Amino acid sequence: MAYTVSRLTDYSAAALEKAADECIAACTAEASEVRSDLDLKSFRDRWMARKNGILTQINDLWLKGAPKEAKREAGIRVNEIKSAVADIIDKAEHIRLEISTAAIQSVDISLPGIRRPIGAEHPVIKTMHEIVGVFQKLGYSVAEGPVVETDYYNFEALNFPPNHPARDTQDTLFIAGQQSKPQRERLLLRTHTSPVQIRTMEKMRPPIRIVIPGTVHRNDPPDASHSPMFHQIEGLAVDTNITFGDLKGTLDHAMKALFGSSVKTHFRPSFFPFTEPSAELYVTCFICGGSGKRGADPCRPCKQTGWIEVLGCGMVDPNVFEFVKDNGYDPKKVSGFAFGMGVDRLALLKYGVDDLQYFFQGDVRFLEQFG
Ligand code: DAH
Repeated sequence: MAYTVSRLTDYSAAALEKAADECIAACTAEASEVRSDLDLKSFRDRWMARKNGILTQINDLWLKGAPKEAKREAGIRVNEIKSAVADIIDKAEHIRLEISTAAIQSVDISLPGIRRPIGAEHPVIKTMHEIVGVFQKLGYSVAEGPVVETDYYNFEALNFPPNHPARDTQDTLFIAGQQSKPQRERLLLRTHTSPVQIRTMEKMRPPIRIVIPGTVHRNDPPDASHSPMFHQIEGLAVDTNITFGDLKGTLDHAMKALFGSSVKTHFRPSFFPFTEPSAELYVTCFICGGSGKRGADPCRPCKQTGWIEVLGCGMVDPNVFEFVKDNGYDPKKVSGFAFGMGVDRLALLKYGVDDLQYFFQGDVRFLEQFG
């Protein structure tokens, strides 16, 4: 039976207390029945409505109708009821609010949580960091330079004279509309990280030991082993009395640190305009261990030779030092070695990936395997 306010005949303190208790208990019980916003509204109206709400009725029947001598006591009780009812309604409103907020972000703790995909280091960048790390431990610092470079830094100051055939090996991508400038100022996409050798020597006096990671571009159509954009790490050490022995010792150490201490290194004569003498460095194939075979099958990464070419290197050509002579690089006083390696190919071999394009397609299904 729903609670109704009846007229009071007995205004004794005990009777007032009993009536008040009944009223508050009824209100509490009704609050517990509130299930929806609509329930809440009718519950609040039933008790609080100015016109004929229960509190108004109590005011009229119990207070205004009280005999003079009971007015004070009745007043105290009625106020008590009002504040208790206000509290109960307040609480009911709060509970409703919490329930509807929870419904919006409904939390079911029995369900698996939402996993936010965490980024992972790209395999090429990871390989780059590893290589740079090996040289940092040897005391090398990191230098960087621009990807859009001038002919001067990319070629001329590296001892590629204008029209020299060695330029052809670089499949250069030139920036359009540069013809009106003198050749050395014309812009191109750097084809290697070597121009940063010159840029760094212009800024820092010898001795220097630097590694230069970065992206380079060449006019190579994309396929399983080529990409018009790829990554290189360059190295340069200049000091007094640097010899080819230092070059060999440093690179042998670096290869062992990168590929394991059982790896052997092997230098073959080569040509680069900016080094003299020049060499290519080979390491024993870290896939087949140098045997050229994988079980009964031929080892593909090393083309069955047991050796993998990892970089170009050499002693800095005195002609290169001539371009930075004024900053302390007198070729009669200093000597140095340089090297440059392609990072992407090493990452391919390291992770056993058979198509270079996977590295640049940004497919999460490929990349998340490295997470
Ligand atoms: N820049 C050369 C290239 O991209 C690689 C290279 C060879 C860099 C010999 C060097 C070096 O510093 O000494 O083919």
